[in-house]
Amino acid sequence: MDKEYILVNVAWPYANADIHQGNVTGSYLPADIYARYHRLRGNHVLMVSGSDSHGTPVTVKAEEMGKSVAEVFDYFHGRFLDLFQKLGLTYDLFTHTDTENHFQVSQDMFLSLLENQYMYPKVTKQMYSPTANKFLPDRYVEGTCPKCGYHPARGDQCDNCNTLFESAAELINPRSKLDDSALELRDTEHFFIDLPAIAQDGLQAWMHNGKEHWRPQVINFARNFVDQGLIGRAVTRDMDWGIPVPVEGYENKVLYVWFEAVIGYLSATIEWAKNNGDPEAWKQWWQNPEARTVYFIGKDNIPFHTIFWPAQLFGAKGLYDDDPQAQLNLPYDVPANEFMNMEGQKISGSRNWGVWMLDALKRHDPDPLRYYLTAVMPETRDSDWSWQGYVDRNNSELVGNWGNLVNRVLNMTKRYFNSEVPNPGELTAKDRELLAAVDAGFETVAGLYDACKFRAVVQENLRLSSLVNQYLEDTSPWTTAKTDLQATARSLYTTLQAISGLKVLWAPILPFTSQKLHELLGEEGDLFGQQVVKDYAESSRSHTALTYDGETAVGQWHHTEIPVGRTLPKPQPLFKKLDQSIVEEELARLGS
Ligand code: MF3
Ligand code: ZN
Repeated sequence: MDKEYILVNVAWPYANADIHQGNVTGSYLPADIYARYHRLRGNHVLMVSGSDSHGTPVTVKAEEMGKSVAEVFDYFHGRFLDLFQKLGLTYDLFTHTDTENHFQVSQDMFLSLLENQYMYPKVTKQMYSPTANKFLPDRYVEGTCPKCGYHPARGDQCDNCNTLFESAAELINPRSKLDDSALELRDTEHFFIDLPAIAQDGLQAWMHNGKEHWRPQVINFARNFVDQGLIGRAVTRDMDWGIPVPVEGYENKVLYVWFEAVIGYLSATIEWAKNNGDPEAWKQWWQNPEARTVYFIGKDNIPFHTIFWPAQLFGAKGLYDDDPQAQLNLPYDVPANEFMNMEGQKISGSRNWGVWMLDALKRHDPDPLRYYLTAVMPETRDSDWSWQGYVDRNNSELVGNWGNLVNRVLNMTKRYFNSEVPNPGELTAKDRELLAAVDAGFETVAGLYDACKFRAVVQENLRLSSLVNQYLEDTSPWTTAKTDLQATARSLYTTLQAISGLKVLWAPILPFTSQKLHELLGEEGDLFGQQVVKDYAESSRSHTALTYDGETAVGQWHHTEIPVGRTLPKPQPLFKKLDQSIVEEELARLGS
């Protein structure tokens, strides 16, 4: 089969807070698992994202911390890069939105929409603070949600019921987030994207066509939203931190953060291509209709990725193309996840209620964290992190089912055959049956990875590893060692081959320990490539990004046979059994 072009687009975290387990299991980890799977298949994978540096989430945070916006942004961006390396999230490029390249691409897309007549200026009434002498967009305003009564709802979105507001004036009793003062409405001119026209010109038809592979909760939401009728949406703001509106007379306004952050998917691939010395390379993922672009996001981001971003792509036809009708690729899939709670309650930064991933990695290895976050990933409904669950599933599944199996097989090979892969002689039907089951796993598990059903991958891999455990019990090589060494040889040879296969099936979820097992089986090279932090200089500034170099990776989506006679290295356990005391210790850290 021809190699596919797969673009893995991952939600851009606001550079205003540390990343918790809900963010990781919601979008970053499933994206990485998917990207790694497709890399093992040999596909052309590009995984991009970056820090979302603009908008009121970042400026409000800076005001709260008494720091400059740039300082706050740098601080969190640096911590994201650190976390992603430690957790093994292999972005081909994790950049940010405060780059010359992103400014350029965002302004280009804005102008393309304007030229195609999908953008119009209009005078609107916005919240103005007489005490601060300025307009207060989005999160600078708080009030009560008119839909669900939640307080404090933010001026752009209610965090409780996820309703989006066209204007903060929709809130009940809107007040300034800066000083709690009352606000008034004043006239100001903004650009609006003509969503009704774009819906008519193709967006609505696109949404109703061939989305059978989409998650029902995602596509149903999107269809409802569009079918209820769209209205024009303001895409500029009265602020000074952000990307200037590229129209004369509007220099003091900036592009709305949600308008430009999603453009990051496109700009990041363009930056990646430039950084790699092949500036046209991004087109393989955006202009080639065979390419698949897949967006990994949390459910609060669904409208932005299934409606507004596709609308921007539709409306900007002709962008970066000689053909004025040419269309950049629309989302192939948006496998949005639901939310993860923490010990039965909503994750909260202010109440210190969550697993702060960078902190957790000081005490826990990345693969057990990745394992648990995959096993309880909120793919179809909200799920819950519990420390008891983490310890239990680590001990019973990761260690009890998979890690111990590897350990026993390697240790017995050492004990009975001096660490040499034994010659099995003729394999029996039972041996061949086990190996055939693992081989069949390469089909079924591939289908599950490709469909983003990662919880099911965990279940299937555990089922296969249970089969190997059962085989080991049945053949009991430690008993036959005294009576029939040839039988022991057959059993250990067969189980060595089986774990060599399972290593690949697990690798996208457990990359660190799969690499370790790869080495314990005497294999050479790295299953995956290297994560590299790089400094990129632009003409007016420089910036730090995380990149991935897959050149040297040797991993492949098939079963490698471990040859007879190979001497294996000294066995080492892949995982640790976790003590019950960890649950109490971790629970004691929660709450402020
Ligand atoms: N920073 C926003 C959020 O965390 C947006 C993420 S996705 C983007 O919700 F593509 F729009 F940036
Ligand atoms: Zn609400």
